[in-house]
Amino acid sequence: MYYPDELVEEIRSRCDIVDTLSQFISLQKKGSNYVCCCPFHNEKTPSFHVSRNKQMYKCFGCGEGGNVFTFLQKYENMTFPEAVEYLAPIAGVTLPERDNSKEAREKAGKKARMYELNKDAANYFYKVLWDENRGKLGMQYLKKRGLTDETIKHFALGFAPTDSREIVRYLRSRGYSDEEMIASGIANYSEKYGLSSPFWNRVMFPILDEQSKVLGFGGRVMGDGEPKYLNSPETDVFNKRQNLYGFVFAKKSRKSRFILCEGYMDVISLHQAGFNEAVAALGTAFTSEHARILKRYSPDVYLSFDSDGAGVKAAMRAIEILRQKEVTGRIINMQPYKDPDEFIKNLGAEEYEKRMESAEDSFLFQVHTTQKKYNLDDYAELTKFHHEIAAFLAQMDDPLLRDNYLNAVAREYGINSEHLRQAVSKEAMVLANIRQREESRSADGKKVSKEDHVKHTEQLLLTYLLEEDGLYAQIEQYLTDNDFTNELYRNVAKMFFEDLRAGNKPNPAGIVSKFEDADEQSEVSALFTTRIEELTDKRDREKAFLDILLKVKQNSFEKWKAENGNDISALNEEIERKKSLEELKRINIRL
Ligand code: UTP
Ligand code: MN
Repeated sequence: MYYPDELVEEIRSRCDIVDTLSQFISLQKKGSNYVCCCPFHNEKTPSFHVSRNKQMYKCFGCGEGGNVFTFLQKYENMTFPEAVEYLAPIAGVTLPERDNSKEAREKAGKKARMYELNKDAANYFYKVLWDENRGKLGMQYLKKRGLTDETIKHFALGFAPTDSREIVRYLRSRGYSDEEMIASGIANYSEKYGLSSPFWNRVMFPILDEQSKVLGFGGRVMGDGEPKYLNSPETDVFNKRQNLYGFVFAKKSRKSRFILCEGYMDVISLHQAGFNEAVAALGTAFTSEHARILKRYSPDVYLSFDSDGAGVKAAMRAIEILRQKEVTGRIINMQPYKDPDEFIKNLGAEEYEKRMESAEDSFLFQVHTTQKKYNLDDYAELTKFHHEIAAFLAQMDDPLLRDNYLNAVAREYGINSEHLRQAVSKEAMVLANIRQREESRSADGKKVSKEDHVKHTEQLLLTYLLEEDGLYAQIEQYLTDNDFTNELYRNVAKMFFEDLRAGNKPNPAGIVSKFEDADEQSEVSALFTTRIEELTDKRDREKAFLDILLKVKQNSFEKWKAENGNDISALNEEIERKKSLEELKRINIRL
């Protein structure tokens, strides 16, 4: 924590959530709440609720929630300290200077160091690129590829000098150890050369996360050479399954669509041409995590993959992944060019926009691509093709969508739609069988589902305790924060119980800002905003609460026993714990 908890809490309590959020989105009063269409996902009817009472917001559509700090982190892309600094003057609070001493930096942890190292390296490459002598070749290369000064600066491109030990010397002079350089992938060690960087004589593309922190690099050879692009390895800060090149800018484009392409240069060319909604997966296949991240902002993704065989194959896979996440994919036809970079260079932005307007529906793209495998003049092949179409259709869960597509392809290929429908039903049955088998197989992966179950129970227990005044006092002697096996919930419980024992009123929004990570804040605030299944009868609620409490205690006991059960000296404690569990079964709760 940069700033003391009391100051953070003071700032939060002085910045009313409705007033603060109203600076960014337009809220409508509805009952005791304020609502609007969610700024974190695309929707037509408002499910984003802001409660002045709780000083929190929550979207019942996508689940995003939190307090004023969470909002600024997610919406304005600030870090936690930045959000605090942003609100401090509004709250009339003066903050102490941030502690930037060497000792404090060292304490800030390995990850923070790696971000710093990456940033320093990016700065170095950037400086070299703009050096008239040393950066000449790199700059010439980028100019030849049509990039403007503005674009080169915007993407913070750089140049790695020919001497592969230069960056090592520089980072050493900045105080980084050999281990730190190796861990970040910026250098590696060999008997022959000692410590040197794999990035030399390459144009450098820093890879940024949503907060503009540098995760790693892609480096391109100038001219021919292998590999064409060298990428940083996965590290403690760089997870390739979760990051998209260009996303930090694309998410701020506030356009209602994304363009998904394959390469660094594709993204950059598109942004330069005004398509700042373009992103690319990083030297790896598009994953369902990528799809989830895109969906948070828009359910429409235009695919602009290479038009060669490998590109089409990759597009076919990406379509499936997007569809599973209920994201609509459309395919941009870039013929006769290889990729969006070349297309834009030759035909320009206007023509590209036209191609977007006439982009092909992803299902029809799948059908047309599949069709090319078959000779439709041959009846056996024609039939196979029809069965393959049926298999695609069977995967669509929405019956209306399926029907519309079914009629469209039946018309296009002159297939009897009733027969096609029958074939789809048959395929659907096969699919259901496969799914069932898969499910029963995952049933013996019991551990995962049990963990989920326990987590859910702990969540419910906390929600009850946070929502119902006076409940904690009745069960105080039976429950401690150590009974929560989920670390995040344990931390919440600890703070919450301390507050209550000190006689303080529960303060949901205040607890939320004790967590720095915006995703953790969201998860914590979900505890306060989850509606407990509407049990109208008080007795039912009391009984439900006791059931949950017992389950949590039982699980905590089992876990304790697994860890200490063989220890003879723990026998007394075991007896105590069992007794307490038995007692708990007989207590009465009054809501
Ligand atoms: P391409 O081979 O299609 O290159 O790889 P490109 O994007 O058209 O590159 P330019 O225009 O020749 O500069 C597409 C993407 O695949 C990854 C990179 O992210 C690249 O942008 N890739 C490719 C690698 O990671 N390593 C490689 O060796 C090649
Ligand atoms: Mn290219």
